[in-house]
Amino acid sequence: MKKSILVIAACLFSVIVFQAFTKSNKPQYNNLQILPKDISHDDLDSVMHHFTASLGVKCNYCHVGDPVTRKMEFAKDDKPEKLIARKMMLMTIDINKNHFQQIAEQMDSGKMAMPTDTSSVSYMLKYVTCYTCHHGDAHPENHPPKKNDENRPPIPPSAK
Ligand code: HEC
Ligand code: HEC
Repeated sequence: MKKSILVIAACLFSVIVFQAFTKSNKPQYNNLQILPKDISHDDLDSVMHHFTASLGVKCNYCHVGDPVTRKMEFAKDDKPEKLIARKMMLMTIDINKNHFQQIAEQMDSGKMAMPTDTSSVSYMLKYVTCYTCHHGDAHPENHPPKKNDENRPPIPPSAK
């Protein structure tokens, strides 16, 4: 969680730096529907790497390549996985925005430090992230391992 906050801080910082060094703010991406349209290259990269690491996949899990030129066509919406990922982004933003309000209020009251930025990127990479559920798996488990499953984590003695 701490690392995510660092990522957000780094994102915001790099946005500022990026904008300071570029003359035109012309968006470089063509089909962003959730992320800020003028997001910097580094910020977009860090979000996409969060996706690949969280799901244990490569870019082509969600993106298609041109069969002739073999170049990736990141703006295309041809794979259902990309469309599901957009829904997942909205869900994750919703969870953070609407179900962590108390934590946000505690932070506002000074008990915890809270980034003031509430744009979609920072909300997406906060309390609950893609990794929280996926843990490196595109199809996260929805039931705990059986008692005799070797993958079942040991139960601490105090909880028995
Ligand atoms: C789990 C699915 C998923 C994975 C994996 C993924 N992406 Fe994406 N990517 C998306 C979604 C969804 C969008 C659109 C976000 C939006 O609409 O705001 C996107 C948008 C992009 C865009 C912007 C395209 C445009 O012009 O609109 C680029 C570039 C991109 N991804 C690169 C990458 C790279 C590079 C990787 C691998 C490191 C990667 N993506 C992995 C889901 C994914
Ligand atoms: C609250 C838990 C949760 C969060 C948070 C979450 N996911 Fe998911 N996601 C799931 C579940 C459950 C499935 C269904 C898995 C299945 O079909 O077996 C799923 C399915 C998906 C799939 C489709 C997999 C497939 O091939 O059918 C993609 C892509 C995906 N999630 C991307 C994301 C991304 C990107 C994020 C972060 C923006 C995210 N998810 C956040 C729980 C979550």
